Amino acid sequence: MAIAAHHTAGDALAQVRARTLELVAPFSPEELERVQHPLMSPLDWDLGHIAAYEDLWLVHRHGGRELLRSDLAHIYDAFETPREVRGDIPFLRGQEVFDYLSAVRERALETLERTGPGDGTLLELVIRHEAQHNETMRQTLFLAGLPGGVPAAAPHAVAGSTGAQTAGDWIDVPASRFAIGASTGGFAFDNERPRHAVDVPAFRIARRPVTNASWRHFCEGGGYERREWWSAEGWAWKEEYDITRPEGWTADGPTGAGEHPVLHVSWFEADAFARAHGARLPTETEWERAATWTQEPIAGVGAGWEWTSSCFTGYPGFRPHPYREYSEVFFDDGYRVLRGWSWATEERVRSTTFRNWDLPQRRQIFAGVRLAKDVT
Ligand code: AVJ
Ligand code: FE
Repeated sequence: MAIAAHHTAGDALAQVRARTLELVAPFSPEELERVQHPLMSPLDWDLGHIAAYEDLWLVHRHGGRELLRSDLAHIYDAFETPREVRGDIPFLRGQEVFDYLSAVRERALETLERTGPGDGTLLELVIRHEAQHNETMRQTLFLAGLPGGVPAAAPHAVAGSTGAQTAGDWIDVPASRFAIGASTGGFAFDNERPRHAVDVPAFRIARRPVTNASWRHFCEGGGYERREWWSAEGWAWKEEYDITRPEGWTADGPTGAGEHPVLHVSWFEADAFARAHGARLPTETEWERAATWTQEPIAGVGAGWEWTSSCFTGYPGFRPHPYREYSEVFFDDGYRVLRGWSWATEERVRSTTFRNWDLPQRRQIFAGVRLAKDVT
């Protein structure tokens, strides 16, 4: 039993590592070391941070061994070293960071061999952490215009536009009491628990996410000029940064196909688009209800993250695990919840209960919009 579990663990660790290495393989040491975008860490920092996290949680906390490089703990702590300053710190570069990754991996496998995975929670956390950083690194590649930032194969096409034209493009979800959040047993992040009952009034949700073609129509129809469609905060942001189209678009429009879901819009833009269409963003409760409703499932989940109207906060009875900085320090601080997953999200971290979060002005995420409406 323990042996089987350890082999599975080794395979899962190896699989996510292969993806990480594949992601950075095309780049020179200079490209990996450079700050590619002011919002993002150098790719070398992500690599070293992946190793440091594995050493901390699997080897040190789970296995009880000393850190391999306690001198690096500060450099790779995301909270002690915020992204703005990561370009200036002595993170490992060149071959050194790859050697660090391998050395930690060797210790992690020894640890699993020696102690087994325990209840598997910290092991799973480490695997998923690396997978999540792979998506973060792809965001960096997208912003820098480097290969790996757009899907190799276009995300699956979504027929139709906003879904606002015909009644059939909306799904009517009746009022219900349903259980939101991850059930006990199995891995989930702390912020997905505890699962609890919520009353969801009847609502309508678009069957499909908003497409590039619809967004283009919105741009051409004065979407970025009509004050009445924007929140005060969103308008101020748009004016200050002279935002006139989604991140990555040119004056000619999107680089992707018209029928594909729009990506790289901020929460502010998503909110304005919804208002312009007499709609609103779904709450995260509505989103999860719709995504788990077997009677009439929503389509196009997984092309991109979907912004919700909800602010990121703890579920009633929330308990931080395994550390407050994973989720809790972000609660009630203006972060909006995104649901679903994107083309860049690895299989293992895709879940209908997963709660992603970011600030309403952020556009590096592979995120788009699905509209909702009240039932009148
Ligand atoms: C869940 C994507 C918001 O990137 O800040 C990575 C994931 N946590 N390292 C983030 C995470 C610690 C997290 N998000
Ligand atoms: Fe991290």
